[in-house]
Amino acid sequence: MANLLEVKNVDKHFDISGSLVDQLKLEGGKIRRKRTVVKAVNNVTLNIRQGETLSVVGESGCGKSTLARTVIGLYQPNKGEIYYGGDRIDTVTGTARRPYRTRMQMVFQDPYASLNPRMTVKQILEEPVRFHNPALDRREVRDIILTTMDQVGVNTDWIDRFPHEFSGGQRQRISLARALVLDPEFVVADEPIAALDVSIQAQILNLMMDAQEQRGLTYLFISHDLSVVEHISTRVAVMYLGCLCEVADAKELFCNPQHPYTRALLSAIPRLGGKAGGHIRLSGDVPTPINLPSGCVFHGRCPHADDRCRREIPEDVTLESGTRVACHGIEEGRI
Ligand SMILES: Nc1ncnc2c1ncn2[C@@H]1O[C@H](COP(=O)(O)OP(=O)(O)OP(=O)(O)O)[C@@H](O)[C@H]1O
Ligand SMILES: [Mg+2]
Repeated sequence: MANLLEVKNVDKHFDISGSLVDQLKLEGGKIRRKRTVVKAVNNVTLNIRQGETLSVVGESGCGKSTLARTVIGLYQPNKGEIYYGGDRIDTVTGTARRPYRTRMQMVFQDPYASLNPRMTVKQILEEPVRFHNPALDRREVRDIILTTMDQVGVNTDWIDRFPHEFSGGQRQRISLARALVLDPEFVVADEPIAALDVSIQAQILNLMMDAQEQRGLTYLFISHDLSVVEHISTRVAVMYLGCLCEVADAKELFCNPQHPYTRALLSAIPRLGGKAGGHIRLSGDVPTPINLPSGCVFHGRCPHADDRCRREIPEDVTLESGTRVACHGIEEGRI
């Protein structure tokens, strides 16, 4: 399948040094200026194919949301290139960016915070349609809104109600409708079900999958719930400290994980009939993205790390199965 989106060697770093006074530190009797930079996304290369669901998984703080926001243009990358449908988009800003803003939409985690409490459902859905399609008349705009509300299962009689009059699940349906009214091709969903009751989560997931089928959508899906990821993904990218350690077909990843971090992460999923003791316990804590470890970012917690892992950043290798993995041990055949 053709690539809809290509991310090439992208870095996203945040300078959190603060004011000049905050940056001045006393070291060995001398005052030095020290910048503090959070290296949230590091040298990420990733393709998203037309019509697929690519999920990004990894521990809290590993850079999933930052990657998603950089891809969609909410953040400017510090390094690297992003292409959409073959066009370079990371350098496109202002009105030239507008067509991509309709084609790429985002659904956020918290449906309580992401909908304006002072606007009715009608106003929430009308605003983006009018802004991006000024030529449409009132009837046409209303038709788009009603059809979309219908599709996501929000009662069209409630069009003049405010977000606080809806339950969490209903609000997330409205958030999804807001993303869909512009008829996008690509939707980034950042933990779209994490704030919902378990019973509602499945409904929203099914709705997203139905919308994908009906509209041929491509999803970048972020979740920390690995059983959900296994269920809905075409491919999965595993992230650790801002770096991708493995990208694989979902089935392949869950049946045959390669990278030691992926293996540890997946061993935490409870399985029916699974053997006790299969859980891989990682030692140590996740290092901070302010001081990235040298070599492989995972070496401090990896049971297979050797001297090369501590020194040298691993390059991606593509295995026969199609899995892409960045690990010296696998490349050398010792894992
Ligand atoms: N705007 C920002 N300014 C400074 N640091 C940031 C900013 N946004 C994110 N970070 C930092 O970047 C790192 C990655 O954060 P990010 O939110 O992308 O992680 P995440 O994988 O989405 O985590 P979670 O699973 O908790 O949502 C974290 O250390 C975070 O503190
Ligand atoms: Mg996040």
